[in-house]
Amino acid sequence: MRILFLTRSFNGLAQRLYLELTALGHEVAIEFDISDAVTTEAVALWRPALVVAPFLQRAIPEAVWRHTVCLVVHPGIVGDRGPSALDWAVAEGVCEWGVTVLQAEAEMDAGPVWASQNFAMREATKSSLYRQEVTEAAARAVVGAVQRFAATGAPPPAAGSGTPRGRWRPLMKQADRAIDWPHDDTRTVLRKIRAADGAPGVRDELFGLPCHLFDARALPPPPSAAHAPGQVVGRRQQAVLRATCDGLVAIGHVRRADGPEHFKLPATLAFLAETAALDDWPTSVADGTDPDIRLEAIGDGVLALHFDFYNGAVSTTQCQRLRNALRDVLARPPRVLVLFGGTDFWCNGIHLNVIEAAASPADESWRNINAIDDLTQTLIEATDCLVVAAMQGSAGAGGVFMALAADVVWARPGVVLNPHYKNMGNLYGSEYWTYLLPRRPGSPQPAEVMGRRLPLSAGQAQALGLVDEVFGDSPAAFRAEVLARARRLAADPDLPARLQAKRRQRLHDEALKPLAAYRDEELARMRRNFYGFDPSYHIARSNFVRRVAPSWTPRHLAIHRDPARQGASAAPATLDQDQDSGQA
Ligand code: COA
Repeated sequence: MRILFLTRSFNGLAQRLYLELTALGHEVAIEFDISDAVTTEAVALWRPALVVAPFLQRAIPEAVWRHTVCLVVHPGIVGDRGPSALDWAVAEGVCEWGVTVLQAEAEMDAGPVWASQNFAMREATKSSLYRQEVTEAAARAVVGAVQRFAATGAPPPAAGSGTPRGRWRPLMKQADRAIDWPHDDTRTVLRKIRAADGAPGVRDELFGLPCHLFDARALPPPPSAAHAPGQVVGRRQQAVLRATCDGLVAIGHVRRADGPEHFKLPATLAFLAETAALDDWPTSVADGTDPDIRLEAIGDGVLALHFDFYNGAVSTTQCQRLRNALRDVLARPPRVLVLFGGTDFWCNGIHLNVIEAAASPADESWRNINAIDDLTQTLIEATDCLVVAAMQGSAGAGGVFMALAADVVWARPGVVLNPHYKNMGNLYGSEYWTYLLPRRPGSPQPAEVMGRRLPLSAGQAQALGLVDEVFGDSPAAFRAEVLARARRLAADPDLPARLQAKRRQRLHDEALKPLAAYRDEELARMRRNFYGFDPSYHIARSNFVRRVAPSWTPRHLAIHRDPARQGASAAPATLDQDQDSGQA
């Protein structure tokens, strides 16, 4: 079928649904929800059998839903309505939540239900639940709804009155989110901030200045209990530590609200001067106090390294910290080292927000790309152990190539990879991709990987040669299977010979063309991106970190605006015609 996605942006959920539906043979065009006129025009051009709205914050125009079935993905259980569905569920600590696919009608979220999927809630941020449970449930529900539409054209009969149902909930306002520092315990503070992460954050104050709080974690209470609730008691890495009435929370990220120019930043960077003199709480990977990097001794010669940086972005100092941790590991190498990355994102490359905040974004871009290159190089040169990249979360740009520095790349089926750098103002990219890509099995063509601006499913990445194996029905099953496989690899009597071959191959590759040469060539191009006349990267980065809403849909997504594609469908794509042609 021809399907039109109407969405606020091509976010992770929309990307996943796009990959699910195109894998089933549907033709999916995408239009960003910019205005009713643009939406109506897109429908007229594409003449879809079905409109799917993965991520929408406004009503679909009546001129569209009256004539074409429009399926809206709502991140709530059946009967739940309103714009803050997941926020309320997290704030109220419900045990079970869900996703409903309903048909757009005059009243918001009140049309016939085509499909729904429930899931058990986790103690996690709203954005993490959205990226994992909501996305998985939405993928199942949307595929089910689309299959039902293709088969019958009608929604299933409404469920009986015994089925648990949600209700209308209003927009969650900052007044609902506000932290009552003298009375809210740590659990409540965490829940409030998690319900607002990654947007809009909880409006509060730090150092007498208004700001929004994100990325909160609980810490053991300070030794002296003499701190007033809400008081800032120190800093730990990039987080500001605040006392609660019964403990301590680390606030990792904030967006200052004392001017329109602010965007989300690590807390100590957003309040650089104010936090400079604070007590610095030491952290170390070795004793398990590092907030982002964690070593897990699995036993049987296997070590797992987790690096769960907020949003998967790695700043210069984070790259350096991770590289130091890696060097410590490699000094006494395990037989197999598993790199788990983070739970939501394996890695998304250099930290664009930190770069944007620098006095010279070009200089900070340069430092950051060199730091991630150093890290990647350390992985490439780790020839005394077998390195496994275990992608439990999605990866973007340089994060994908960092994973390819491993000997083996495994991914969970729901993972989405965006290996191209082009969407960030035509960046050329580094992280030794010019070395790492051709050495993958099947030597994937750079044009196929870097030239296409569309996301890849784990399965497509495997077909292209970027990923070795895809398995695991859930994140937990994936992790368990990774560790079982890693143990088998470590116990394999052929491992010493495999490592010997790895060392020989590295020496051979180095003799043929030194790693330094690849890096120099890549960085020469990156230097032009950072310091050259073309400001595309700087503009794209500024828009990205400020979450500027796009004013048009990029052409590679809006395929309905391609005259060749329009010509391909002279007749309106009705359900019957699509079924007759076997496309559905
Ligand atoms: N630096 C800083 N922040 C980043 C980031 C990066 N490299 N990559 C993602 N983020 C942040 C986003 O700003 C967003 O922040 P929010 O919590 O304030 O909303 C959050 O991570 C989630 O990103 P989003 O774009 O909403 O997720 P997605 O699943 O829709 O898309 C990507 C994932 C990777 C495709 C997309 O985030 C992306 O293109 N990132 C940039 C990758 C890049 O160009 N890196 C630099 C070159 S190495």
